[in-house]
Amino acid sequence: MFKRYLSSTLIKRISSSLDEKAYQVTTYARPDDLCITRGSNAKLYDDINGKEFIDFTAGIAVTALGHANPKVAEILFEQGSKLIHSSNLYYNAECLDLSRKLIEKTRKFGGQYDASKVFLCNSGAEANEAALKFAKKHGVSINGKKQGLISFENSFHGRTMGSLSVTSNPKYRTPFGSLVPNVTFLNVNDELTKLTDFISSKKDETAGLIVEPIQGEGGIFPIPTETLIQLRKVCKDNDVVVIYDEIQCGLGRSGKLWAHSYLPKEAHPDIFTTAKALGNGFPIAATIVNEKINNALKVGDHGTTYGGNPLGCAVSKYVVDVIADEKFLEQVEEKGQLFQERLLKLKERFPKQIVDIRGKGLIIGAEFSEAPTRVIAKARELGLLVITAGKSTARFVPALTIENETIEKGLDIFEKAVESVYA
Ligand SMILES: Cc1ncc(COP(=O)(O)O)c(C=O)c1O
Repeated sequence: MFKRYLSSTLIKRISSSLDEKAYQVTTYARPDDLCITRGSNAKLYDDINGKEFIDFTAGIAVTALGHANPKVAEILFEQGSKLIHSSNLYYNAECLDLSRKLIEKTRKFGGQYDASKVFLCNSGAEANEAALKFAKKHGVSINGKKQGLISFENSFHGRTMGSLSVTSNPKYRTPFGSLVPNVTFLNVNDELTKLTDFISSKKDETAGLIVEPIQGEGGIFPIPTETLIQLRKVCKDNDVVVIYDEIQCGLGRSGKLWAHSYLPKEAHPDIFTTAKALGNGFPIAATIVNEKINNALKVGDHGTTYGGNPLGCAVSKYVVDVIADEKFLEQVEEKGQLFQERLLKLKERFPKQIVDIRGKGLIIGAEFSEAPTRVIAKARELGLLVITAGKSTARFVPALTIENETIEKGLDIFEKAVESVYA
């Protein structure tokens, strides 16, 4: 029944031999019995092994408007038939239009109040790379030593050398020897005065501070509002550029347009970055800055061949229009509540094994007392895809368009998996 979706030659080749794996570098651990061939909103299908899954991963918080979104497919076809790429040597209309939209919607939906300019690129790491370079350029323009960066324990900002340098996890860092120098990792749970005193004391050597308003890969930890307010204040007083990494938690996922839309104006950043949901799976990312940062930049400071291509921009315009809508954002919050209520009930039944439920909107974590590897494997066996975050948290980041019924069915499966492992 499933096989008609794929060419018979491909099915035969893939299913007859796992040797196809021999052509992939050894950087991912993936289950051997699963090969995704198509999707539909919050469902994924493996036509090779004849399996169907409820998907609580959305390609790691990417396909916010669902897999195989028909409108996205139509835009890809229509724009692809007109112009895919023309380079940054010339303006293109889609890029101009998306940039305007990002700024206008950001300001309208409670995001960075002084957002002013957009740099478009292709992935989260690249958007952060641009943000870090912009912050350093600003710092260096004040004094040659003002180059250092501050980040936080539990953070994840990407795998390129710059973004990796501000990513705390030693597992990702240590294999690569020396990274960008002058990076300090602070603990967001430390006393606020300890954090702010440190930043003031390093003001002459610090260009920027980068933080995820809701730490994603680290285990779904929303940073307390007061912490962000105080960090922003000390950075402003000491001319340290504040970067919010909203690559995972942004664009509707938290139930607001940006996770920092929950914050008062005085806690807004100088720069924020977005990727993942921005293209609903088509690779596109953006670094959004205020005038202060833009004034530190000049022609030639940064660039990218593919960034701002008409195809990605056409898709993103649609994504931003759909998500920047009060009703759409409200339903994200409601669905998030449904998740949290059911997960809290499950925690009551398994208080020793499930130690915390946290998150906002549809970025939710269920922390276990051990790595939830067995629960996740069991859920997959029963038809549900979930991922981990940090060492011991199951992460729920489904499509923002997931139906309530699919949430309920998926959580039924998750409960069964927990029961099967712990009951
Ligand atoms: C908060 C955050 N920043 C940056 C990145 C890196 O994005 P990409 O994988 O698109 O380079 C990720 C990816 O998971 C992320 O969650």
